[in-house]
Amino acid sequence: MHTTSEANQRIARIAAHLHPPNFQMIEGNSSNIGRMDCRAKGAAPGFKVAIIGAAGGIGQPLSMLMKMNPLVSVLHLYDVVNTPGVTADISHMDTGAVVRGFVGKDKLDEALTGMDLVIVPAGVPRKPGMTRDDLFNINAGIVKTICEGIARSCPRAIVNLISNPVNSTVPIAAEVFKKAGTYDPKLLLGVTMLDVVRANTFVAEVLGLDPREVDVPVVGGHAGVTILPLLSQVKPPCSFTPEEINHLTDRIQNGGTEVVEAKAGAGSATLSMAYAAVKFADACLRGLRGDAGVIECSFVQSQVTELPFFATKVRLGRSGAEEIFPLGPLNEYERAGLEKAKTELATSIDKGVSFTRK
Ligand SMILES: NC(=O)c1ccc[n+]([C@@H]2O[C@H](COP(=O)([O-])OP(=O)(O)OC[C@H]3O[C@@H](n4cnc5c(N)ncnc54)[C@H](O)[C@@H]3O)[C@@H](O)[C@H]2O)c1
Repeated sequence: MHTTSEANQRIARIAAHLHPPNFQMIEGNSSNIGRMDCRAKGAAPGFKVAIIGAAGGIGQPLSMLMKMNPLVSVLHLYDVVNTPGVTADISHMDTGAVVRGFVGKDKLDEALTGMDLVIVPAGVPRKPGMTRDDLFNINAGIVKTICEGIARSCPRAIVNLISNPVNSTVPIAAEVFKKAGTYDPKLLLGVTMLDVVRANTFVAEVLGLDPREVDVPVVGGHAGVTILPLLSQVKPPCSFTPEEINHLTDRIQNGGTEVVEAKAGAGSATLSMAYAAVKFADACLRGLRGDAGVIECSFVQSQVTELPFFATKVRLGRSGAEEIFPLGPLNEYERAGLEKAKTELATSIDKGVSFTRK
């Protein structure tokens, strides 16, 4: 049941998409024509998206790919450093979205105001030998600050949280929103899409198929053994030898480490992550638009297991994650994996919750 005020808010939001205001060029754009002399009419119809951490390894290709997304009318790029250059560069792409850049902590609220979707790849990435939990102390503080901004400036936006460790940063975000009185679990989505993208690719390699034809549900969380590919539920239906199952499960769970080691100190997965983030963000926007049957895996507040957060397939709609799907039938191997995943996940979730209560 929706209240009248919710309905009015939705009508206002749709109206804003149909008639977006004119947007100004950001300062620092080196055009000789003053912005008041330009005849720009503003953005095409679409949604307003902010990328927080836009100048980073993930942020830059993610910003580029979101500028190419026809569902986006306004793209806000925010970072604590280097946003003007990234914004100037991306703003020259001749696609519909109007781009504005924001740099520095005092611009966070401005960057977030009015957004429909906020994508957060801010934080430090993993270096060789580091676990995702090593990142915890730095990234926990960054995510807390950003979520406080979201609660102030766009509390009804869908949040796609990429910053690691996702198993802890999503509970941190939930606590921040609860404290601010703005928490709506349907709007808070931890991005586990890279695990799905990797699973589809690696399974397709083994089966000799086009990865676009393969759909592997990946449940649990987003670190090591908490990443649980359900190979018994792969579409198209297929079977694997026990060796193939071990190889695939191990490769999917450690795909991040494969990239960290190959980059040898130069960061973690950025390009495949940007691709996965855009695939997920696009699904969220299609859901917001009202498309039917938009289903992706995400780490969300959940009652599928006894844990408060868990990744499964969710149906994305106008109000975010509108339906959370159960795990479906698991085989013995997957049931054992689930128990291991839950033990580790419980610790990571607790760590996130206690960080905000310190
Ligand atoms: N969810 C996933 O599947 C997944 C996959 C890969 C990486 N990651 C995580 O994504 C994050 C970013 O990775 P990266 O390789 O792009 O790192 P990066 O260091 O290249 O970029 C991070 C960016 O965040 C910015 N930043 C730092 N503090 C900020 C703040 N308070 N507000 C806004 N921006 C801030 C930095 O200035 C930098 O530009 C890391 O936490 C990494 O572990 C997640």
